[in-house]
Amino acid sequence: MKISALKAYPNLLGGLAPQVFLRDYWQKKPLLIRRAIPGFGGELDRDELLALCRSDELESRYISGQHQLWRLEHGPFTSAQIKRWKTPWTLLVQGVNLVLPAGDQLLRAFNFIPYARLDDLMVSYATDGGGVGQHLDNYDVFLLQGNGRRRWRIGKADDQRFMPDQPLRILQNFKPQDEYLLEAGDMLYLPPQWAHEGVAMGECMTWSIGFRAPPAQELVDQFLSFLQENLQIDGRYQDPDLRWQKHPAEISAAMVDQVENMLAKVHWDKKLIRKFLGQVLTEPKPHVVFDPPRRPMSHTKFRVALTAKILQLDPQTQLLFSDQQFFLNGESESVPRLARKMIRQLADQRALQPGTEITDEVATILYRWYTYGYLNFARRS
Ligand code: SIN
Ligand code: CO
Repeated sequence: MKISALKAYPNLLGGLAPQVFLRDYWQKKPLLIRRAIPGFGGELDRDELLALCRSDELESRYISGQHQLWRLEHGPFTSAQIKRWKTPWTLLVQGVNLVLPAGDQLLRAFNFIPYARLDDLMVSYATDGGGVGQHLDNYDVFLLQGNGRRRWRIGKADDQRFMPDQPLRILQNFKPQDEYLLEAGDMLYLPPQWAHEGVAMGECMTWSIGFRAPPAQELVDQFLSFLQENLQIDGRYQDPDLRWQKHPAEISAAMVDQVENMLAKVHWDKKLIRKFLGQVLTEPKPHVVFDPPRRPMSHTKFRVALTAKILQLDPQTQLLFSDQQFFLNGESESVPRLARKMIRQLADQRALQPGTEITDEVATILYRWYTYGYLNFARRS
């Protein structure tokens, strides 16, 4: 069985097949989808979001301002700070999918885009007139309207100059081309670098499904430090045939040649690149802490539970694979050949239905992950 976004939310792409969305819109042009998730919005309210911004487990930001005077503060926030916020204000909380099961479910509905590209779910609350200013983001985003209404103005960002001396990157010259009023359940897809400005019409909440697209420099930097940990180059500089040099201060051509040969031993193949990507992409976000079961059930009881309950990956768990390699929460996992099909299924669906036929090899792996708190049984099946 394949889980499909369109099964849980049939109008998520406004009737477009994912293939058509990817061909015509993804990374190309915006798309407005009316009633993408009819009736959406009740999953989290203002007070629940305010509770999340008091915790140091999630990244949160308070933004207030208008025109040329903006203010930005990072959480966690105390109740006393919140009371002093000046209207209109916006509160943005990142990683809501990690703590809210409905948020995780929503994020996973976007699985027509590979998980490797998925970043997180950010939820914002704004008072009447609130917004974060005219700006652009470097990644794709689906802006799903929660409770209330928001007016979006969007346009091509031909002029990417920002206002000076502001804590936020506010575009100086924003020329909106389209304007939409989004109601609860409506959704706007924006490709990277598309200028936009959202203003709350009355208090409102916006759910942003964000993607990751690391800059090449960041990937290369990460790869170089990964290489450092994964490479073992033998040998040592030597020169039994050293010749007398006229200039003792000169680095000789022979020395350059010898070091060139040493550096030529630094190489990588697709398998190593897979390992690098798998480990980096499944690395848990800072602040993520897994909660192993305090009194774990025995292996035998675990096997019985598998017949009756849904086994699900913890929302914080990242499980990806590439070819025959598997990666879990920042580590490579060796999965025996016969267990791979089932672990791939778990990675795709992030859950196994009760009664799924499971071999001893798979059960041993799942049980170990269960004791780490990487997966658990759903409360109700
Ligand atoms: C918001 O939710 O207020 C801002 C989202 C965005 O502009 O990316
Ligand atoms: Co934005």
